[in-house]
Order: sequence, then structure tokens, then C-alpha cells
Amino acid sequence: MEELTRIAVLLSGRGSNLVALADACARGEIPAEIALVISNRADAPGLDRARERGIPVAAIPGKGLAREEHERLVVAAIEAAKTRWVCLAGYMRLLSPAFIARFPRRIVNIHPALLPSFPGLDAQRQAWAHGVKVSGCTVHLVDAGCDSGPIVLQRTVPVLDDDTSETLAARILEQEHIAYPTAMRMLLTRAWRLDGRRVIFE
Ligand code: GRF
Repeated sequence: MEELTRIAVLLSGRGSNLVALADACARGEIPAEIALVISNRADAPGLDRARERGIPVAAIPGKGLAREEHERLVVAAIEAAKTRWVCLAGYMRLLSPAFIARFPRRIVNIHPALLPSFPGLDAQRQAWAHGVKVSGCTVHLVDAGCDSGPIVLQRTVPVLDDDTSETLAARILEQEHIAYPTAMRMLLTRAWRLDGRRVIFE
């Protein structure tokens, strides 16, 4: 049997995107296995979702540590798990340029808006409050900026007149759970290259 690509998932909270990725791996839709889940919060529910699935977990709290020291621990855990890809799934810390340089073009993130609109925190509320008529989610490669790396895949949703930011966020989340596994499948199974900022699949 062909060896599965090993993926590390970094999260800080709920873990629904972790579940979507892990389930897609288990169904064979992504030729990979989630080899490690790391959280900067020991009480993140996402760690329980990982444990339920038998995925090794590491809680590496950032509090009280300098950023370099915290990242050194995270990098060491990723390297010890021999993972080829790093998927951010609700990881609420910005990664330093040194961290990103360690895994070139192999760190992926999902953001709950159509980038480059509404980067940063609370993106669904930002989009809703702005009054956009269409929103969605973006899977992108991670660079040193905030939600600024090359876009792999986007999925859209309508914004309805009677939406609250919560109902909009729920509609976007459904699409996130399709977008992230689809993007990882594409990155792992198809030839692709970067043309400037553009991710081109052959
Ligand atoms: C998602 O909305 C994702 O787009 C954002 O953080 C949230 C994480 O949710 N980056 P979950 O922990 O995967 O449920």
C-alpha cells in the first residue's frame, strides 16, 4: 500500500474543520493521515475530537512563553511526528516568518471569508456588517502576513436579508467542511505550481 502523507493540524478551539479533514482521510478522499493535532489551549474541544479518533495530541500553551520559545516547541513536535503538511484550523496565533520558512509552501489555512476581503478576526461578522451579498470561505497557503497567502480554493454562500452574523457563519462553516478536504486532496494528488500569487493546478 502506498504510504500516506502525514499531516499536522494546529487548532485553538472547536475542531470542526479537523473533524472534516480527519473524516475525509478516513474515507480515503485525502491520501493522508492526521498524525498529530497541536493546540495552544489545553482545554480546546478540538483536542477531544482528535482523541476520540485516536489521533495523537499535544497541548503546547503559549502563555508565559516568548513567541520564539513557543514556536520552537511546536516545530519540535511537528518534526518529531514527521508530518509533511501543516494545516491550520482555527489556530489563533500568527506564525513567525521563521516558522513559515521551516515548512515552505506546506502550511495551509482556512479563513471564513472571501479573501482578500475581511482578513483577521471575526470575519463572518465583518462581512455581514459590511453588507456584502455574497461571502464564503478561502483555503490558502500561509505566508508571513495575516490571511494573505496564495489562494488554493474558495467556496461562496449567499448572504440573506434576514441573516444574523451567526446564521451566516453557520452557512459558511458548512462550505468550509467541503472546501478544506477538497483543497487538501487537490494539493496532495495534483501537480501544481505558483505563478506569482496564483496557485495553478496542471
Ligand atoms: C473556522 O471558521 C475557520 O475558518 C477559522 O476558525 C474557525 C475554526 O472552527 N479559521 P473549527 O475549530 O474548525 O470548528
